[in-house]
Amino acid sequence: MLTQMFTRIPVLLKSVSKRKLDATEQLQMDHMKVELLFGQVKLVRDSKLRGKIIQKIVFELETHARIEEEIFYPACEKIAELKAIINESYEEHKQIKNLLNDLSRSSMSSDKIEAKLTVLIEDVMHHVRAEENELFPKVRKAMSQNKLDKLGGQLRTAKLEENRKAA
Ligand SMILES: [Fe+2]
Ligand SMILES: [Fe+2]
Repeated sequence: MLTQMFTRIPVLLKSVSKRKLDATEQLQMDHMKVELLFGQVKLVRDSKLRGKIIQKIVFELETHARIEEEIFYPACEKIAELKAIINESYEEHKQIKNLLNDLSRSSMSSDKIEAKLTVLIEDVMHHVRAEENELFPKVRKAMSQNKLDKLGGQLRTAKLEENRKAA
């Protein structure tokens, strides 16, 4: 928790000063955005608004998982010592995506939605901690800054494209 906080502060400052973020920084910003949405969904009681926030969470997480799987994880997999941790990450994504699929179906009762949402938040928080505390530090050690910047650019472009498609 503390490690996570200390690595996030410089990322936030860099983002505020409009400097380009590298790959892991870019992904950390996405994580923070999703955690803010989790905070919102816990506070809001109005069911219509809650529904909107849940759809936003689904969209943000689907996009995030997709760009990690299409761009970031394949680059990490090339590093032998990261292979096992990346395999685990794919498995965690699978579980998360199942919950996202369920949540995007509108036919569920509100009790079921609440249960799915609770499990989703727990799973995502666990996954995010593993990425930020274990995977990202290893990636930053193994990759050059140049490579991290290049991947950051690719992640940004892919995300803009996803947002454009959804608009
Ligand atoms: Fe992530
Ligand atoms: Fe992930």
